[in-house]
Amino acid sequence: MSPEKLQAPRGTFDVLPEQAAARAAVEREARRIFEPAGYGRIETPTFEATELFARGVGESTDVVQKEMYTFDDGGGRSLTLRPEGTAPICRAYIEHGMHKLPQPVRLWYLSSFYRHEAPQAGRFRQFWQVGVETIGSDDPAVDAETIVLLADLLDAVGARDVRLRISSLGSPEARAAYRAELQAHLREHRAELSSDVRERIDLNPLRAFDADDPGTREVMAGAPRLLDRLSDEDAEHFAEVRALLDRAGVAYEVDSTLVRGLDYYTRTVFEFESAALGAQSGVGGGGRYDGLVEALGGPPAPGCGWAAGIERILLASDDAGGAVSGPPTSTPPVDLFVAFTDLTRRADAFGLTAEARRAGLGAQMELAGRSLKGQLKQADRVGARFVAILSVAGAALKDMESGEQRDVDRVAVLREVLRGRGAA
Ligand code: HAM
Repeated sequence: MSPEKLQAPRGTFDVLPEQAAARAAVEREARRIFEPAGYGRIETPTFEATELFARGVGESTDVVQKEMYTFDDGGGRSLTLRPEGTAPICRAYIEHGMHKLPQPVRLWYLSSFYRHEAPQAGRFRQFWQVGVETIGSDDPAVDAETIVLLADLLDAVGARDVRLRISSLGSPEARAAYRAELQAHLREHRAELSSDVRERIDLNPLRAFDADDPGTREVMAGAPRLLDRLSDEDAEHFAEVRALLDRAGVAYEVDSTLVRGLDYYTRTVFEFESAALGAQSGVGGGGRYDGLVEALGGPPAPGCGWAAGIERILLASDDAGGAVSGPPTSTPPVDLFVAFTDLTRRADAFGLTAEARRAGLGAQMELAGRSLKGQLKQADRVGARFVAILSVAGAALKDMESGEQRDVDRVAVLREVLRGRGAA
């Protein structure tokens, strides 16, 4: 009986070489757009203390309640694979005393994240996010700047049918008062709500705006809106963000039903969606989190940022057909294929290949024990420009373009290839 074939865990995937180019392109565009705008790359650990997410993301969120990969590290400490990047980056901001740097501090990241969700198209258990966080300023220009950066990134990678929705959640105080008002409204219409929403009236009433069932939707259509309950200051902040987006030519829709799945948001929240995606239409989203750094034990430091799913960006983009597929990687040219007719020449072939690579050539050697005919076929398959054939008798060089083959001095092989390549 042969052993059972193992597969990647459900909701995870391999990024194969032919899929790497599309991902690399997103990363390249991100760097090109973010770094001149003052954003420095940050990488935090894959796992963190569980408490960071419990305190940072919020106990009542789906992410913390049911989606975290949490484990005991064997020393009695509870660790969690990061489900998101904002809380870890705020932790790093505090830990490294970044509040002493000129503010705001601008950071960007591209990392893998982990959520135990039901896998479906565009939803994975390990996925990648690109994101930015700007910490240390409550200027509405920060909100607008980060939004413009995501709009520009999506534009640069060719994401199709993108729509931006924005809203404001106001201050925690306004939100608390509104929450009570919304709860009262939900309780009044209890019988018309889905059981799911009914169960969460106490814990997370705002999520009722996300519900799909017609009964709940009807109730929510008549529900009070947080956007109408903002303090003057928060309303002014939101108006300023909108004015700046107008100035930057970024189109948006104000959507007072917009809710985000994480608890740390204050004031501005936003989401980019693409109609090119299915049910999981959110390409990227984020907002302001003015209380998060303090909640994690740091100094008062307002922040704002977003994250976008790499797989969803690729899915929504013109030149990438599938969540984890992309255009074929353009392989670098093979200038030299080193063949040998006799095993005693193998070490020499190895040496020549290493030498050729150090000289900056694209070089490959025979590794599969093929006959000379097979080796020439392989050289052709990889598109080699020259083939060096090492034998007991000496060395020969075959020009794969002209088909011409001639004997050469072994020590001259590299020089000949370099010259031949230069002439091409
Ligand atoms: P989020 O909305 O939870 O926000 O995730 C951001 C993006 O990550 C989503 O729009 C989606 O593209 C992608 N994403 C999320 N979950 C999955 C999944 N299971 N499979 C594939 N893609 C997924 C955050 O994570 C916040 N930290 C964003 C933020 C940064 N807010 C402020 N700063």
